[in-house]
Amino acid sequence: MDFVQQIAKLLAKEVKFSLKDVSSLLAVPPDAKLGDYAFPCFRLGKNPKEAADKLKKKLKLPKWLSRIEVAGPYLNFFVNPAVLAEETLTEINKEKGKYGSQDKGKGKKIVIDFSSPNIAKPFGIGHLRSTVIGNSLYKIHNFLGYKAVGINHLGDWGTQFGKLIVAYQKWGDVSGLKKDPINYLLKLYVKFHRLAEKDPSLDDEARRWFKKLEDGNKEATSLWKKFRELSLKEFEKVYSLLDVEFDSYRGESFYNNLLDKTIQDVGRKTKTEMSEGALIVDLEKYGMPPVLLRKSDGATTYHTRDLAAAFYRLKKYSPEKLIYVVGSPQKLNFDQLFKTLGLCGVDEKKLVHVSFGLFRFPEGKMSTRKGNVVLLEDVLSKAIGLVEKIIKEKNPKLKNKKEVAKQIGIGAIIFADLSNNRRRDIEFDWDRMLSFDGETGPYLQYTHARACSILRRVKGKVSSKVNFETFNLAEEMKVVKLLGDFPEVLGKVLENYMPHHLANYLISLAQAFNEFYHKCPVISDQKHTMKARLLLVDSVRQVLENGLGLLGIKAPKEM
Ligand code: ARG
Repeated sequence: MDFVQQIAKLLAKEVKFSLKDVSSLLAVPPDAKLGDYAFPCFRLGKNPKEAADKLKKKLKLPKWLSRIEVAGPYLNFFVNPAVLAEETLTEINKEKGKYGSQDKGKGKKIVIDFSSPNIAKPFGIGHLRSTVIGNSLYKIHNFLGYKAVGINHLGDWGTQFGKLIVAYQKWGDVSGLKKDPINYLLKLYVKFHRLAEKDPSLDDEARRWFKKLEDGNKEATSLWKKFRELSLKEFEKVYSLLDVEFDSYRGESFYNNLLDKTIQDVGRKTKTEMSEGALIVDLEKYGMPPVLLRKSDGATTYHTRDLAAAFYRLKKYSPEKLIYVVGSPQKLNFDQLFKTLGLCGVDEKKLVHVSFGLFRFPEGKMSTRKGNVVLLEDVLSKAIGLVEKIIKEKNPKLKNKKEVAKQIGIGAIIFADLSNNRRRDIEFDWDRMLSFDGETGPYLQYTHARACSILRRVKGKVSSKVNFETFNLAEEMKVVKLLGDFPEVLGKVLENYMPHHLANYLISLAQAFNEFYHKCPVISDQKHTMKARLLLVDSVRQVLENGLGLLGIKAPKEM
């Protein structure tokens, strides 16, 4: 039941405002003691307190409200707890894994560009953030009825391939490459940069080879293919660990044969010009450096390929939004891209850069070029290893220790990421993020497992036919109310593409549940109370599972 709507109907009969105005005036009071909804009476007359009194007398109390009270200029509405509990818990019990899903996005597509690591370079922590944030937004869009198209815009083209080809031809060999492709290529790349600092002719050579690659030269192409294939295999290990999937792996190279046309199209729709031998879109008027469409040596750029990709996606999917989940260092890049697309007639409101800060390790920021990198696989396996140790201490008899450790270790990293406002930098702190009782992934998973264990004691027997009148404690009602908020929280995440609203909500729910559990025995000989509380426990279990799933985190039943 939509209480706001129902209260608004009740009020609209007595006041002169429209139903819409009344419902937009209704607010949730800061303190639950003041009721569930409040109606401000300032606009009803000179003396709002009197107006509130008068209005109260006119209203007949429906059975889903337990009382209406005047507090100063406000009219406060108290929803009948039994009705609220019945509404909420029956719905969760009926909808199960679908509880919270909506049809808001029905008929609308969104394209979400996320993860997008670079071939021949390690899968960095920045790419982990993009993967985790993007995956969650992807899932939530689908859950709210959108059709999300997830695209991995692989960095599989660009001048760095000229460098790699030169380095590989000079110093590389197949057996080294096959053994540990990404690290091997990284070493070659680092060596190239070290030597090129002293010998700039290497850079010229690399430029020539990239040009050859763009012109379809056989040798260059076959090396590039090999680098790409071997790197992708490595990336897939990460995706399978994280359980992330994409609808498309069209990376930068896919757009190669669309680039000439893209450049022509841009030239037709807006002004392009030559500047020092390069073809550019001048953005000075907008306070930005120009977008380079073609460099003086004829090579295209990251921007050219992004323009081609945007046109391609708009045409192919007719999406409502094109979302790019990419770190904040690329803000200017996307401002330029969006402005250029705008100049070409694309509605800029469709274009969203979901940016994020750094995941900082105690060792400081890492850079690929110096070869001083934190490898993602190492981070993930360290997390899993640490959790295995914790499990061995806490629950040595647990079955599938390895699998559960994987779910918790990875869940911890994902949650550490998603529980922060994405724009902020995050300090990587192993102890904090693996703790079972802080505001962490493992805490949520532990709470979920605890609910499962309560339910196992009654062999999972839960019915929604309970006496809802037995709910009367504040601890119970706090949980019920939070459970009812879940759909709204998901909507809020998509307003600004901020998954931390969901992460924080789940923490509040788990905390409220644990307070309830401390205060209220669930298994007891008071049959009605027990039945009702079991339904509450099962509902919490379900919402935690649904919510964690939407963050991309698994919810093991035992841990
Ligand atoms: N490969 C790029 C990088 O690692 C990210 C690509 C983001 N997506 C895009 N359409 N530009 O920096």
